[in-house]
Amino acid sequence: MTTIPFWIDSAPIKQFPRLQKNINVDVLVVGAGITGITTAYLLKKAALTVALIERERVASLDTGHTTAHLTFVTDVGLHELVGNFGDDHAQAAWDAGTAAIDEIERIVQEEEIQCEFTRAPGYLHVCADGFSDKEISSLKKEARVGAKLGLGAIYLERVPYLTVPGVRFPNQAKFHPRKYLRALLMNLSGNGSHVFEKSAVTEFDAEKRRAKVNDHWIGFDRVVMATNNPLVGLASVTSATLLQTKLSLYTSYVIGARVPSETIPEAMFWDTGDPYNYLRVDRHRDFDYVVYGGEDHKTGQKRETQKAYARLLGRLKKIIPDAQVNHRWAGQIISTPDGLPYIGENAEHQFIATGFCGNGITFGTISAMMALDWATGRKNPWADLFAVDRKKIKGATWNYLRENKDYPYYLIKDRIARPESDSVRKLKPGEGMIIGSRPKKTAAFRDRNGKLHKLSPVCPHLGCHVRWNSAESTWDCPCHGSRFRPNGDVIAGPAEEALSAG
Ligand SMILES: Cc1cc2nc3c(=O)[nH]c(=O)nc-3n(C[C@H](O)[C@H](O)[C@H](O)COP(=O)(O)OP(=O)(O)OC[C@H]3O[C@@H](n4cnc5c(N)ncnc54)[C@H](O)[C@@H]3O)c2cc1C
Ligand code: FES
Repeated sequence: MTTIPFWIDSAPIKQFPRLQKNINVDVLVVGAGITGITTAYLLKKAALTVALIERERVASLDTGHTTAHLTFVTDVGLHELVGNFGDDHAQAAWDAGTAAIDEIERIVQEEEIQCEFTRAPGYLHVCADGFSDKEISSLKKEARVGAKLGLGAIYLERVPYLTVPGVRFPNQAKFHPRKYLRALLMNLSGNGSHVFEKSAVTEFDAEKRRAKVNDHWIGFDRVVMATNNPLVGLASVTSATLLQTKLSLYTSYVIGARVPSETIPEAMFWDTGDPYNYLRVDRHRDFDYVVYGGEDHKTGQKRETQKAYARLLGRLKKIIPDAQVNHRWAGQIISTPDGLPYIGENAEHQFIATGFCGNGITFGTISAMMALDWATGRKNPWADLFAVDRKKIKGATWNYLRENKDYPYYLIKDRIARPESDSVRKLKPGEGMIIGSRPKKTAAFRDRNGKLHKLSPVCPHLGCHVRWNSAESTWDCPCHGSRFRPNGDVIAGPAEEALSAG
């Protein structure tokens, strides 16, 4: 069993150089996941010069840990979107998904990319181990609204294979995300454009419009923040902090398994549980591969994270007893109070894209299309709906409060909590733990060679205390979901600095 995601394991990507001198470009794109790579690809096609810079390796963070269902079906139900935004806006949100799938298909055909792009239906269904009449009427409503908005949704008494009630959404799609992005990356460098890895931006100079990377400067006219969780960049700290309060980070767990050929139809399935489970089926030459996920919880707020995989495995075996699991991984989902992403300009010359919920492959692609329009001065149909400063929306207030009550709660709770141990003696190789006394806590990690690493548990973002995540071997912050390596380096923000020495 490997903890490397199936996509990374099955599609290696060549290394790109580190930035080693000052350069100037039209557009700086920070972050090389689906959002940043697609943005850089579209901008270069529009004859702009681009620098795509990545802190670690390209297409590896959340984009490497995705499941890549390409669907317009959002985490928030269609009838809830209609209730919050009205018919037109709900349809616009789902149209964005359709437009993204079409754009990916267009690029696949134009560039002749072998990335297993396949059109397939999606099924939203009740959980197999029990459901209520209310869930059935909610599914019927979803199908009615979906049909009315021309999305071809149909209610089924029995969805294929699982034989429980559900809704069929035709003409969704799936692909191998890394094979697709590898092809986009291939032609990005050259003619004034660049791709750099191991090149984190560490400082912005708003006046001179330049960013510091590996002690060198990249001068730019515009910057696209494609870091999933946005950096402050050219924005004011106040507006960046306000935006952060609207983002909630969740960890989602996935297992990948071989199953005998044609056991189950090639499709995507999502159940109505909370958190929900998701299943994707791909045909290969001698076997089928299924990717099954769920168990979402707010990042840093659950202990014994390893057990999530055991629960997923138990449920998958009930669905497909012959499943042979050989991959498992976890990643981050960023959600928003109203279920729609924030995409657009949030400071002069700066564009951000975040809050994609479980639809970041499609919303990441839409973000790239919107960033192209922004950089070339064209009007975009989704600009108002996804605007970062969109005004209060009916029905969103309650969720917003619920999500944000966690911040002050965890800030206080973790500071006054007892450490897990007063000494490092209990710490086994490969484990981390908060040790010490209440006034002086230390985040301690013992590496495989027995060497002890001691860090401050105080998250450099806004001061909450991190916790050890045993499933991922990371320090996770329960407040806004920052994640750090065992040595304290940042894996994912909003924190922009490493944990300090303990
Ligand atoms: C388990 C799981 C299942 C999912 N399933 C689906 C699905 O089925 N369908 C779907 O549409 N979406 C899905 N998603 C969501 C989707 O994968 C993500 O929303 C999407 O990949 C985010 O892409 P991104 O490019 O915005 O961010 P990322 O892929 O996270 O890329 C951001 C990059 O920015 C880099 N970066 C950060 N800070 C800096 C810095 N200072 N300098 C330089 N670089 C920096 C990071 O290293 C990272 O590589 C899933 C996510 C998970 C975790
Ligand atoms: S305090 Fe905000 S992520 Fe840690």
